Amino acid sequence: MEVIICPSAQRVGEVAAAKAARIAAPIGPDVVLGVATGSSPVQTFAELARLADAGELDLSGASAFALDEYVGIPEGHPESYHEIIRKTVTEPMHLDPARVHVPNGFADDLAAACLAYEDAIRAVGGVDIQFLGVGTNGHIGFNEPTSSLSSRTRIKTLAARTREDNARFFDSIDDVPKHCLTQGLGTIMDARNVILVATGTSKAHAIAQVVEGPVTAMYPGSVLQFHPHATIVVDEEAAGELALADYYRETYANLPDWQRLDV
Ligand code: GLP
Repeated sequence: MEVIICPSAQRVGEVAAAKAARIAAPIGPDVVLGVATGSSPVQTFAELARLADAGELDLSGASAFALDEYVGIPEGHPESYHEIIRKTVTEPMHLDPARVHVPNGFADDLAAACLAYEDAIRAVGGVDIQFLGVGTNGHIGFNEPTSSLSSRTRIKTLAARTREDNARFFDSIDDVPKHCLTQGLGTIMDARNVILVATGTSKAHAIAQVVEGPVTAMYPGSVLQFHPHATIVVDEEAAGELALADYYRETYANLPDWQRLDV
C-alpha cells in the first residue's frame, strides 16, 4: 500500500484528486469512478470537479458507481445516498446522471437489485478508480466487521457503531436505517485502483488496523493489503497510530520524479 500523510484535511483532498487524475489521464474521458459517501471524500470530489472545470481532467464520458445505499430510504430523501452522490459527485463533476449508479435500496426485490448492480459494473468493464472512506470500525462501503473478504453486493445489517456514527445526519438514531445494500469486499477489490481517504483522530485506530494490522474481517478495510494498487491518503490526525509513519513520510518525500504528484 502507498501511504501518504498530509498536513491538513484540505491537502488530503488535493493529493487524492491529483493521484486520481494521474491514473485517469491515460484511461481517457470514459473513466469509471467508484464513489463513496460520508464526509471524508467530499473535498476530494470538489477538487476533482475543479480539475475537470480547469480542463486538467476529462470526465466528459465518465461513469460512477456508488458503494452503498440505505434500505428503505426513498431516492429524494436528503440522506439517501442517491441524493448525496447527486450533490457531491454528479452535479459538481457535470456527469451524465444516466451514467451515475447507486444501489436501489428501495427495490421490491433487494437481492435482485444487488445482482443487477454487479451486472451493471461488469457491463462497463469494471471500476478504474475506487474512492473509499473508512468507518471508525474499519468498514469500507458498509462492509461491517466479519464481512466475507470475498463478498459481493448484498444486503447488510448496519453495526450499532455505524448507526451511532451516522446518527448525526438524522433527527435521531431511531431514524437511521438498520439495513443497507453495499458492494462487497470482493467487488471493491476488483477495482483496478483504490484511493482511501481519512481525516481526524476518530479514524486513527481504523487506519492503523487497515494499513498495519493483520488482514482480518474484524477490520474489513485490511483486505486492501491484498490490492496491488491501493493508496491511503490521511492527515496527521488519522495517521496518529501508524507505527511506520516516518517511513511513509520519507518514502513520499523521496518519490522518483515520475511518481511525484505536483500538488
Ligand atoms: C459511511 C459509509 C462509508 C464511509 C464511512 C465513513 O457510513 N457507508 O462509505 O466511508 O461511513 O464516513 P465519514 O467519511 O463521514 O466518516
